[in-house]
Amino acid sequence: MYSNIAAFFMTGTGNSYKVAGWFLAAFSSARTVLRQVKENQPAGIPADTDLVIFSYPTHGFTAPWLMIKYIFRLPAGSGTHAVVLPTRAGTRILGYAFPGMEGTAGYLIALLLWLRGYKVKAVSAVDMPSNWTAVHWGLNDENVQAIVTKARNTVQTIARRVSAGHSYYNGFIPLLLGLGLARISFMYIILAQFILAKLFFASDQCNGCALCRRICPKQALSMTGNKPHWSYSCDSCMACMNYCPQKAIQVSPLIVFLFAYVLSLPVAAWLSGKLGYVFMDLPQILQFVLQYMYTLLSVAAVYWLLHLILRIKPVAAVLASLSHTKYFRRYRAPGVSLKDIHK
Ligand SMILES: Cc1cc2nc3c(=O)[nH]c(=O)nc-3n(C[C@H](O)[C@H](O)[C@H](O)COP(=O)(O)O)c2cc1C
Ligand code: SF4
Ligand code: SF4
Repeated sequence: MYSNIAAFFMTGTGNSYKVAGWFLAAFSSARTVLRQVKENQPAGIPADTDLVIFSYPTHGFTAPWLMIKYIFRLPAGSGTHAVVLPTRAGTRILGYAFPGMEGTAGYLIALLLWLRGYKVKAVSAVDMPSNWTAVHWGLNDENVQAIVTKARNTVQTIARRVSAGHSYYNGFIPLLLGLGLARISFMYIILAQFILAKLFFASDQCNGCALCRRICPKQALSMTGNKPHWSYSCDSCMACMNYCPQKAIQVSPLIVFLFAYVLSLPVAAWLSGKLGYVFMDLPQILQFVLQYMYTLLSVAAVYWLLHLILRIKPVAAVLASLSHTKYFRRYRAPGVSLKDIHK
């Protein structure tokens, strides 16, 4: 039914790359193109494409900012068929599989595509092994294999349905939950991901190879003093942390504590008093803007401070040893190498 298919994937640890690849593999007689979604990359679709696939991770119960922006950059669709396959955090405990929660991740992108003139033929989240190794250890091989095998079957089923000319819409309950959690997703996009980015640091295991900077899909890393520096444009995709050959990228609870304190109410109240205005008398929107600016500035200030103290070797060693992530297994989608993703 389709003869020219283009698949676009955004990925941190390879899950969404795999899902896009499985989908394309089910159309063996079609001409296929597989492209990574990156910051500042021109968003073109090859001529004569009759089906477009989008696969990307769920972040904060919605689609990542990079993916949302990419859809706006796409050329208008004029009825081109589209399939939306967000991946989400599947997990497995004591042999029991637990699904992730994509919330609005699938249908937000579907809506944007529809507004851009595409005809959305399928929307379905796919459970892949959770990759959030800043907060939990990577799953073991057995659990990864079980989740990945099931995911491949799911993707093949969707591909068969679409190739037979049917539509496939899944995930209405997560969508309802996602709409209920829309406030959290919004706060994630405008705030939480910035704070999450500033929790990373490179321990003294870092040898300055700059691989993390080269593979970052958001171009969010720069090297300062031979060490990576995380900017606010980080999407917390987890590529840098999981592919660092030295396993040098860590998150420290001490930094979390420092942020929590600086962002806490007593500090904000003290500051608002010092600045000479009474917080509560201001219109709500102004309060929000002020608090937002305060949060971003203080996160940046703490991060700057952190980089200064990390230059003191014994302090850096203590901070690294206090990192829970030092003991976490990293996660990379099985069978995926950096060369596959970064063509
Ligand atoms: C910062 C962050 C937030 C996440 N939020 C969610 C979420 O809200 N719901 C969910 O099911 N999975 C969530 N995940 C898990 C990923 O969506 C999932 O592991 C995905 O398959 C990773 O794909 P990738 O390897 O292509 O980046 C999150 C992961 C990260 C790193
Ligand atoms: S990839 Fe790892 S070792 Fe290389 S610069 Fe980044 S943090 Fe350092
Ligand atoms: S800095 Fe790391 S976590 Fe953030 S977008 Fe880049 S690769 Fe992903």
